[in-house]
Amino acid sequence: MPFPQERPRRTRQSAAWRRMVRETRLTPDALIYPLFVVPGRALRNPVESMPGISQLSVDEAVKEAKAAAGAGVPAVLIFAAPAEKDARASAARDPKGLAAQAISAIKEACPELLVWADVCLCGATDHGHCGHVRADGTIDNDSSVQTLAEVALNYARAGADAVAPSDMMDGRVQAIRALLDREGRAATPIVSYAAKYASAFYGPFREAAESAPAFGDRRSYQMDPANAREALREVLTDVAEGADMVMVKPAGPYLDVIRQVRDAVAVPVVAYQVSGEFSLIKAAAQRGWIDERGAVLETLTGIARAGADLIISYFAPEVARWLRA
Ligand code: PBG
Repeated sequence: MPFPQERPRRTRQSAAWRRMVRETRLTPDALIYPLFVVPGRALRNPVESMPGISQLSVDEAVKEAKAAAGAGVPAVLIFAAPAEKDARASAARDPKGLAAQAISAIKEACPELLVWADVCLCGATDHGHCGHVRADGTIDNDSSVQTLAEVALNYARAGADAVAPSDMMDGRVQAIRALLDREGRAATPIVSYAAKYASAFYGPFREAAESAPAFGDRRSYQMDPANAREALREVLTDVAEGADMVMVKPAGPYLDVIRQVRDAVAVPVVAYQVSGEFSLIKAAAQRGWIDERGAVLETLTGIARAGADLIISYFAPEVARWLRA
């Protein structure tokens, strides 16, 4: 039935109509808020490239987590930048290490808030790579996977409600699942960063997490931005290995991948609106070039419409407040 019978504008003519026919609804229930933890006390070091975001000492991270929970955010994602860095990522495997301390302190202060722990080696290694580096500079996949499993177990024992490996080594989900199960942690879910791209949009994060690689880049383990079929292969592999949720990261430039992944798996799909996506909006808004609230809600709606069930975003507490207001 063509125009003039067909008039899509009929159900768009008032706020009440638009509200009723809206296909995608954002809810605070779907949001996860990342926190950057550093050593010390009473510290909030603003991250210059991420206006409004700070590196936090454990006591401040607890306050920030409480505020996020109060705003209606159901989960936080912990990144730690320990002072001691070595080739074996010892700080990440230490039960008294910075990440473990932050996880248990937040769990103790807000038991109802879910604490997800990012599992990687880059924040605790002196070379800043996500796996072990051989003498010739290549990444030793299989030994990295064993260390990653130890890190995941350490965080699960500290009280993490989920472990989220972000390293992109082959076989890490299987290794983590096996070790968690063997050590009595069968109930701890794995949120796999399954389709994580080698992205220019991680720049600000590397300042916040102090995790930039000392040499080379991450392209031998993170995915080529040109590939979508390969994302499906990664995701299906991780689900077969026992991933309870799979992630696509970054989010905005990869909406097609989010949609294809959503259609291919039965587990929840998480999308990560990364630091660069956050900073672009902040920088433009600070100059008065873009309306921050509108841009944030539009990007998150787009990510949800593409098929993301859950969204990790540095805007999470603010968005939760807007959605509740
Ligand atoms: C580390 C990790 C990175 C991010 C999350 N975990 C950076 C990287 O891989 O270099 C990026 C998050 C962001 O940019 O917000 N494995």
